[in-house]
Amino acid sequence: MKMRAPRGTQDILPGTSEKWQYVEEKLIDICRRYHYKEIRTPIFEHTELFQRGVGDSTDIVQKEMYTFEDRGGRSVTLRPEGTASTVRSFVQNKLFGLPNQPTKLFYIGPMFRYERPQQGRLRQFVQFGIEALGSDDPSVDAEVMALAMNAYEELGLKSLKLVLNSLGDKESREAHKNALIQHFTPHKEELCADCQIRLEQNPLRVLDCKKDKDHPAMETAPSILDYLNKPSHDYFEQVKECLDVMGIKYEIDANLVRGLDYYNHTAFEIMSEAEGFGAITTLSGGGRYNGLVKDIGGPETTGIGFALSIERLLMALEAEGVELPIEESLDVYVVALGEKAEKEAVRLMYNLRQAGVQADKDYLQRKMKGQFKAADRLNTKYVVVLGDREIEQDAVSVKEMKSGDQIELPINQIVTYLNEKLSGGEK
Ligand code: HAM
Repeated sequence: MKMRAPRGTQDILPGTSEKWQYVEEKLIDICRRYHYKEIRTPIFEHTELFQRGVGDSTDIVQKEMYTFEDRGGRSVTLRPEGTASTVRSFVQNKLFGLPNQPTKLFYIGPMFRYERPQQGRLRQFVQFGIEALGSDDPSVDAEVMALAMNAYEELGLKSLKLVLNSLGDKESREAHKNALIQHFTPHKEELCADCQIRLEQNPLRVLDCKKDKDHPAMETAPSILDYLNKPSHDYFEQVKECLDVMGIKYEIDANLVRGLDYYNHTAFEIMSEAEGFGAITTLSGGGRYNGLVKDIGGPETTGIGFALSIERLLMALEAEGVELPIEESLDVYVVALGEKAEKEAVRLMYNLRQAGVQADKDYLQRKMKGQFKAADRLNTKYVVVLGDREIEQDAVSVKEMKSGDQIELPINQIVTYLNEKLSGGEK
């Protein structure tokens, strides 16, 4: 049997992994500027966390989790998203008790969902997400969206759309829910089997159905925005004002409900409008989840966050033709010919690397010409040529590949010379 990676997973190979590193470093730097600190949580958690956290009526919990029994008979699940785990850790480690509040966290790591794989939809994908816990100041909501937009824009994306909605507080949602039940019940038999259940469990979810999206009743469904009570309405207005003062453009979409149960008030998604991006246009999503910390066993604490997948981000960069500024080059290639020279190359490379210089050499017994060819292929900046004769005469040659300039140096000066050249003197 030919071994292949499981469906919906991918290998990230050299040539592409540099892009991942670049993007991840950029995201980490943005978090530094917005003052979010990294949290790393386990890849698997007790299944109950996601049932309670993400919500029993969601597609994620009902159909998409990688759940299994461990050898001790406990049900564990590969995390399908990062919010529930972050909140679990926030509660378990009593981060709410620390003096610096709100607690502003970010994470980058693999998530797992048993979905039907297609472009932009994998079974293992990497999410970058942030969570701000412990403040219900509307400027935090706006900050989360600003960070997300900032990240995409700094990476070079232009065709972006921020879509915003408010799901209101519990009272508003309850009023809206009743209106939805009244609206959809006469059409119940015409809806898909899932929506018939959703109508009973969580009618809001009906608005998110892919199968029933063209049903005439969808268009005339009651809008949450007409059911926001005064505090919810005012909160939403303030969030929008904060976005306005930053000059961040958005569109309101009253049908944006998101696929997870924990949201209230602010809900948003960022879409790519780039041609050729593919069928799934959502780049990221997030929102406020004021009840979640309590549901997971912590004190009453508010929260908001968002997550994006690096896979979709890279797809969007490609669709917009953005070239990341990644330079593939090698600082130093050591060409060695002769037995003594080969030993000397081992020593020299060790010293160069210890001094912070990137260095490599031939390991395939290539001839001189082959070694120079290899150096060229690797886009090498400097080539050091070691031959037995050069070593005896203590005059080793260093060639700057771009200009073709070549000088001879005593071997014990090579490290200092190259280090200086590479760390400043380079043109
Ligand atoms: P989500 O909308 O389920 O939200 O996922 C967020 C993002 O993860 C999506 O917009 C998409 O970029 C990416 N994503 C989801 N599933 C896949 C997949 N199968 N393949 C590739 N990318 C995918 C959440 O996960 C929430 N935890 C976000 C959040 C954080 N809300 C508050 N804080």
